[in-house]
Amino acid sequence: MLSLRRAHVFPYDVWGANQLCLHHAAKKYYPARQRLTLPAQPGKSGKPVVLNQKASLSEYCEKGSGSLTVVFKDLGPQVYYSTLFFWEYVGPLIIYPIFYYLPVYKYFGYEGERVIHPVQTYAMYYFCFHYFKRIMETFFVHRFSHATSPVSNVFRNCAYYWTFGAYIAYYCNHPLYTPVSDLQMKIGFGIGVVCQIANFYCHILLRNLRSPTGSGGYQIPRGFLFNIVTCANYTTEIYQWLGFNIATQTVAGYVFLAVAAAIMTNWALGKHSRLRKALRR
Ligand SMILES: NC(=O)c1ccc[n+]([C@@H]2O[C@H](COP(=O)([O-])OP(=O)(O)OC[C@H]3O[C@@H](n4cnc5c(N)ncnc54)[C@H](OP(=O)(O)O)[C@@H]3O)[C@@H](O)[C@H]2O)c1
Repeated sequence: MLSLRRAHVFPYDVWGANQLCLHHAAKKYYPARQRLTLPAQPGKSGKPVVLNQKASLSEYCEKGSGSLTVVFKDLGPQVYYSTLFFWEYVGPLIIYPIFYYLPVYKYFGYEGERVIHPVQTYAMYYFCFHYFKRIMETFFVHRFSHATSPVSNVFRNCAYYWTFGAYIAYYCNHPLYTPVSDLQMKIGFGIGVVCQIANFYCHILLRNLRSPTGSGGYQIPRGFLFNIVTCANYTTEIYQWLGFNIATQTVAGYVFLAVAAAIMTNWALGKHSRLRKALRR
């Protein structure tokens, strides 16, 4: 067990190198698991200052003393963000076609021949394309600032995406499914496809805000829909699900849209206020 409740000599000037030393002292605490912060100041509220890996020890040392008090927190086992996103998205990508291709409804008591409507086929391609796109963006487009995430998030996020994937797939492919009119289907998928392309372009604009190593922090995104809304990538994500729902018209799809829109609105408000603060600095 690693304890920092004792005098500890940090041999290097850069924090990242000292974190490797801590890892050496206690193998289980690899750098991504460690969170080192400055102690909270009495009477001051707000989040503690997290020590920057690239910063110099002297930047944080109490003036003239040469000593520094740091608070160590074990963040628990970590996974790469790309791993987290991959497992989130691969679930719906596999689950949806199972409901489309395999005779699963006989296990739900529907024995008769299943007639597949064209909208159900297009919906399957649309849904799978969406999650395939998100996996590709995870590996080839996004430039994440945080390398890792707690393992527990994999279970939480997979439960969310996989359950909703199965819920939507069950109703969209159901033997008793009633398709909407041809015109409504075309309008719905039309809106959806345009918004998916717009969403991809928003992700390219976000990518260009950072260097290939992921450095550059948070910049104010500009251009295209970012001139109108702060998180245009979330707006286009919400509208593309709206397009899918106009075309497929299921309660399950609208429930997912409402939950996803609530989550993304909350995140967007947080990102908006963070960028406003950055603008004032
Ligand atoms: N259906 C749903 O429930 C749902 C929910 C959430 C997201 N999504 C979809 O998944 C996509 C990715 O989600 P996300 O939450 O990871 O999106 P995000 O936070 O907007 O991030 C996308 C990428 O851009 C970076 N980025 C964002 N704002 C930036 C800024 N101001 N300056 C520099 N870089 C910035 C992020 O960096 P960081 O690594 O620093 O964050 C991340 O690498 C969304 O755009 C949306 O299409 C769907």
